[in-house]
Amino acid sequence: MHTVKAIYPGTFDPLTNGHLDLIARGAKIVDELVVAILRNSDKGTPLFSVAERLEMISEAVAPMENVSVTTFDGLLVDFARQQGAKAVLRGIRAISDYEYEFQMAMMNRKLDPELETLFMMPAEKYTYVSSRLIKGVFRLGADVSALVPPLVVERLKRKTAAGG
Ligand SMILES: Nc1ncnc2c1ncn2[C@@H]1O[C@H](COP(=O)(O)OP(=O)(O)OP(=O)(O)O)[C@@H](O)[C@H]1O
Ligand SMILES: [Mg+2]
Repeated sequence: MHTVKAIYPGTFDPLTNGHLDLIARGAKIVDELVVAILRNSDKGTPLFSVAERLEMISEAVAPMENVSVTTFDGLLVDFARQQGAKAVLRGIRAISDYEYEFQMAMMNRKLDPELETLFMMPAEKYTYVSSRLIKGVFRLGADVSALVPPLVVERLKRKTAAGG
């Protein structure tokens, strides 16, 4: 039988409802979806450790039976090949995402012509949600409970309480 496995790579610092929306959409069209946390991102010091992010995502995707979570480092194309994945899932929120995502997709195609990139759009209500913005407004006291899963709200509160 012909099955399609896809990788959804990102930093997920932290997981948002936008990410979850994309995961749910992706899981409907592929047989197996692997959410892959990039261990060495060039985004600077993360708020949540890789272990914390792995825990949060695992808990959030537990009800989705064809979704799993792992971490990776190095080239995405190498990781995808190692996983036997045929596709990479990425999200496009707005035109502003397009240029970067297009370049990445083309570079990955150059590195591995067999690997396809699938782009999906989230629900409109999540088109402005990013991890960076969530952290920014939460720090200033905003209620982000409509934009991230409840378990992420809890973790954000604990971080703040711990002075992190
Ligand atoms: N709200 C969202 N809707 C759809 N796709 C999203 C959303 N947030 C992130 N993505 C997509 O998920 C993938 C992983 O993104 P990433 O880990 O950078 O999340 P992010 O929210 O953009 O975080 P950061 O603000 O740290 O960049 C990218 O393809 C990104 O476009
Ligand atoms: Mg981003």
